[in-house]
Amino acid sequence: MGAWGGLRALSIGVRAELVAGLERGFRQQFSTQEQTPQICVVGSGPAGFYTAQHLLKHHPRAHVDIYEKQLVPFGLVRFGVAPDHPEVKNVINTFTRTAHSDRCAFHGNVVVGRDVTVQELRDAYHAVVLSYGAEDHRGLEIPGEELPGVLSARAFVGWYNGLPENRKLAPDLSCDTAVVLGQGNVALDVARILLMPPEYLEKTDITEAALGALRQSQVKTVWIVGRRGPLQVAFTIKELREMIQLPGTRPILDPVDFLGLQDRIKEAPRPRKRLMELLLRAAVEKPGVAEAARRAPAPRAWGLRFLRSPQRVLPSPDGRRVAGIRLAVTRLEGVGEATRAVPTGDVEDLPCGLVLSSIGYKSCPIDPSVPFDPKLGVIPNMEGRVVDVPGLYCSGWVKRGPTGVITTTMTDSFVTGQILLQDLKAGLLPSGPRPGYAAIKALLGSRGVWPVSFSDWEKLDAEEVSRGQGAGKPREKLLDPQEMLRLLGR
Ligand SMILES: Cc1cc2nc3c(=O)[nH]c(=O)nc-3n(C[C@H](O)[C@H](O)[C@H](O)COP(=O)(O)OP(=O)(O)OC[C@H]3O[C@@H](n4cnc5c(N)ncnc54)[C@H](O)[C@@H]3O)c2cc1C
Ligand SMILES: NC(=O)c1ccc[n+]([C@@H]2O[C@H](COP(=O)([O-])OP(=O)(O)OC[C@H]3O[C@@H](n4cnc5c(N)ncnc54)[C@H](OP(=O)(O)O)[C@@H]3O)[C@@H](O)[C@H]2O)c1
Repeated sequence: MGAWGGLRALSIGVRAELVAGLERGFRQQFSTQEQTPQICVVGSGPAGFYTAQHLLKHHPRAHVDIYEKQLVPFGLVRFGVAPDHPEVKNVINTFTRTAHSDRCAFHGNVVVGRDVTVQELRDAYHAVVLSYGAEDHRGLEIPGEELPGVLSARAFVGWYNGLPENRKLAPDLSCDTAVVLGQGNVALDVARILLMPPEYLEKTDITEAALGALRQSQVKTVWIVGRRGPLQVAFTIKELREMIQLPGTRPILDPVDFLGLQDRIKEAPRPRKRLMELLLRAAVEKPGVAEAARRAPAPRAWGLRFLRSPQRVLPSPDGRRVAGIRLAVTRLEGVGEATRAVPTGDVEDLPCGLVLSSIGYKSCPIDPSVPFDPKLGVIPNMEGRVVDVPGLYCSGWVKRGPTGVITTTMTDSFVTGQILLQDLKAGLLPSGPRPGYAAIKALLGSRGVWPVSFSDWEKLDAEEVSRGQGAGKPREKLLDPQEMLRLLGR
């Protein structure tokens, strides 16, 4: 029998007294938390910053500490979003305003799960929000995946965007043909960066090393391979349009792949219909005079291959690197969202010198004390409340899985923030004051971990901007954490 059920059995007088007592308790609890709820967020990507923004905006006294493993903030906005999409990175201005709040602090250079446990954070704060994204890539799980020349799109993106762990990747771009596996927006990002004339990247924040390598690149053709059909591609219309219009590049689309598509899209939702219409026009319609003149001398090309599932990476005769990929020919079974690719038994070999696997990112467990669903790759949660762990929440890709653009992540993070505040109001979070960062700082100090602050980041930011100025770039990213720490006098 619960507490309230038990009350029913008591006399009216005793019951009234007890209820009043309980209410006083709740009020005290509520008011203690109302003084300064100490909340911490793990991860400073869009999910972390949007969750913090919501909490600060909707609670007048809440204090939010953001812990980040990198020395620099902003997650995939810095290390994922393509360098030729600077407008997408404007969200950094909003995040910076949040970080400047006197009720918010950034603590970079802290790996939660290694430098401090989630339990230690839970002891120090009234609530903890896990917003640590999806840092790994989904493996192909096919023979030959480990051969030199096979890279995850994640590592390739990290390399051109200056992610410290990928700065030494040095992809070999001496081959003629590259294959990108997967047909999502990341696949189009990496294909576009591989094919774009380097002069279009010169004024972006791409790293100098990546720009140098792309200037020397011999890659002329990029195949973007999907296991399902055109109707199931995961990329979106803006990104497809950019590919179609990519300077110095022509599309290779086989009209046969699109037979019957016109009829099948009649009932499709509008965004999908428009995307398919653009694909159809590019594949089937004869280009106008100007477009034909643009395409004719184009030295580079990209193409879409459908109904092909990666089966085996083919080695060069000396076995030292990739020479191609064997694709299982597939057919579709099922309808709508449930349409599956089923192997027909036929195979096709596609020669190439570089394979970029772009079949999705993957979240990992952060700490043994936090439940994790390895199949779905998410922390099990109900609207952001971690299942069976009161006071623990999650937002962003680790909450929903590694899909969705920044605005999707924003909406989802606001929901988590709202749920947390509801729980706070309902007295469901621990009562009494919590030490917050003071306790964690002492713990980290005793372990030789020295966090960096947001003003430290602003010093690094100024250094990057100044290094980029000579070349007309918005910034030249710092790649080496040791150098960053030296610049901060550590
Ligand atoms: C290559 C790529 C390009 C994209 N381009 C676009 C685009 O152009 N437009 C768009 O709208 N969306 C784009 N997206 C999607 C967008 O980036 C995501 O929706 C969003 O970044 C997800 O936010 P998040 O905070 O959950 O994860 P993340 O952005 O990954 O942030 C997670 C943060 O947690 C930190 N972290 C991880 N582990 C720990 C730990 N143990 N301790 C402390 N900190 C930790 C990470 O360092 C990171 O800073 C792109 C995604 C990718 C992969
Ligand atoms: N410009 C932008 O706005 C931008 C840029 C980059 C990323 N993003 C967003 O970031 C999110 C992640 O993008 P993403 O491209 O990594 O993921 P995604 O959109 O989920 O695409 C993954 C692709 O990989 C395929 N795939 C998955 N498993 C496979 C397997 N075992 N074998 C073969 N193919 C497989 C999928 O095919 P199936 O459909 O058959 O599973 C799909 O084509 C997306 O929401 C994306 O829109 C946005």
